[in-house]
Amino acid sequence: MPSKRGSYPAPLPYHQRTLSSSSSSKLYKSNKPSGGWKRPLRWFLLIGTIMYIALYILFPSSSTPSQPQDHFAELAIAQQLHPSPPTTASIPKIVHFVYGLKGPDPTLDWIHYLSIKSAHDRLSPTTIMFHYHYLPTGPVFDLARPMLTLHKVDLAPTTAPFGDRPVTHFAHQADLIRLDVLNHYGGIYLDLDVIVMRSMDHLLRHEFIMGQEGIGGSVGLCNAVILARPQARFLQRWQHTYRTFDQADWNYHSVVLPGKLARHFYGEITIMNHTAFFWPLWDSHGLRTLFLEKNYDFADNLATHVWESAATPHLMAGLTPSLIRNIDSSLYCQLRHLLPHDGQEPIRPCRILTHSPRSDHLVGSWPLTPVPLTLNPSPATDTSGNDMHGILRNGFFLPNDDDGVYLSGQDSYLFLSMPTNLTLTPLTIQWHTKITTQPPVNDQGTVMMVQTDVCKLWIKPGAVETWTLTNGWVWERTSSVPLSFPADDQYHVYTLVLHSPLSSSLLAPALVVYRDGYVVASSQAPTFENGIVRGIWFGSAEPAKYQDPWDTSASLAAWYKKINIWERALTLQDLRNDPLQSFKNADHQSWLLE
Ligand SMILES: *[C@@H]1O[C@H](CO)[C@@H](O)[C@H](O)[C@H]1NC(C)=O
Ligand SMILES: *[C@@H]1O[C@H](CO)[C@@H](O)[C@H](O)[C@H]1NC(C)=O
Repeated sequence: MPSKRGSYPAPLPYHQRTLSSSSSSKLYKSNKPSGGWKRPLRWFLLIGTIMYIALYILFPSSSTPSQPQDHFAELAIAQQLHPSPPTTASIPKIVHFVYGLKGPDPTLDWIHYLSIKSAHDRLSPTTIMFHYHYLPTGPVFDLARPMLTLHKVDLAPTTAPFGDRPVTHFAHQADLIRLDVLNHYGGIYLDLDVIVMRSMDHLLRHEFIMGQEGIGGSVGLCNAVILARPQARFLQRWQHTYRTFDQADWNYHSVVLPGKLARHFYGEITIMNHTAFFWPLWDSHGLRTLFLEKNYDFADNLATHVWESAATPHLMAGLTPSLIRNIDSSLYCQLRHLLPHDGQEPIRPCRILTHSPRSDHLVGSWPLTPVPLTLNPSPATDTSGNDMHGILRNGFFLPNDDDGVYLSGQDSYLFLSMPTNLTLTPLTIQWHTKITTQPPVNDQGTVMMVQTDVCKLWIKPGAVETWTLTNGWVWERTSSVPLSFPADDQYHVYTLVLHSPLSSSLLAPALVVYRDGYVVASSQAPTFENGIVRGIWFGSAEPAKYQDPWDTSASLAAWYKKINIWERALTLQDLRNDPLQSFKNADHQSWLLE
């Protein structure tokens, strides 16, 4: 299923509900329903009603589902249906993938292989059914093929079932095929960009399961992971609602509608919380967590969706096993365990730190010497011993060790991931930059940007700006201090020191930038909020949306080397003591001491 783009819709007025349907599973003992199932059903309904009333009296608020007042066209359709009962007592351990609806000769990407491999290794299914129309070709598919039971399907009808609405996009056809296949066989449907993290055996006793997309299901219930018994009642109702299908409404029938229906048929569906299948999300924060940061360990995930269509244009472009082995992003740290193993190299572990364990509070040190690997992006190596992680995309090195890296001003950047609990204050970032006049300096370019969830501290060639998230999604510039960067083709040492605005004083302003030992910018009370630092950008900052072409308007062409980051505010004394022999001109008088 393509990613669900756009901003967050308003949260739906219900939250995670995981009503078990295990009691109903006792109803259907044999694989085929016989006439005898009706009597226990009556008893079940009677006992259920009595228990419901008892629970209502005992726990009125926690046990009563909200009684939504909303009425929508699909609700009537779903309510009119009297679904036949599921035909098995538990969800069969059959995995289903649907692929190859767009021909001819589709190929499989590495992420698809890893999706299949993750289902194979972690779900231990009896069968992995690969429903295709055009059979994929190529070496990656050949590698996956032994795990698969191939099943050719017709292209989905180009009109929705139970109606005559046109369904022409292959993604919507895939939506219909998955429901068909689940209704027929039952099992675990997975999109080919879902990575299974752990066994789901404990879920198989349920009738029908979906997971929340967004916190509290704010987007809906995503159809990229569905577990179902054959003829699950909710599934049948959902299929019938395709009578109102409108292909202009991209994710309505696939994500939004199941969320709306679930509130009315809560006894027929088990809802997993937002971390079970679809976290991190497809928004900038989520994609950054997956592909750039190294701070998420998937401990609360049964699976994760990597949002292929949002990540492919940029973040996941050119994904190869070698990238997965060498780039330590949250996702790749997990994926590398699924790669075909040549038995030679041990799988490199990924250490996730909450804080720097060093007594000098050094978080990381990146000399930025040439990388011997021919990878793009390539890893930027931290020499502090903390195993911090860096990603260099489209960086250029000269052979000389001391030249640093050139970021071209195109989609070219260095991103450094930080410990999970590192905050904006106190913090010191020191780096060496060389700017030439060719190409002309872009005033809006990014020299460096510290990214938190609530605030961005953005150093541009003309100013130090703070940007704050207002109303939950609008970034607004909240302060600006002028700062110029000489384009003199010389390396200069810059040091940004951040104190908490609350503890700042004349001698230790909340924000100071030094160039070669001189204060070049400072502010007593810049308006920034202290937040967890998600990462630090050099050369270019995060675009508004990762699925769009890279926004080069905030890019700067410049050279960088010797980046050091401390989880404390270094004093001038510290800087003069030359903490890493990198601060050359600190004996110059600073105005702070005048
Ligand atoms: C959400 O679901 C996952 C997977 O079932 C579980 O590990 C996690 O503890 C749940 N989180 C909450 C807050 O219930
Ligand atoms: C890191 O932050 C989390 C969430 O704020 C907190 O629960 C945890 O104790 C912190 N850990 C450390 C080592 O500071």
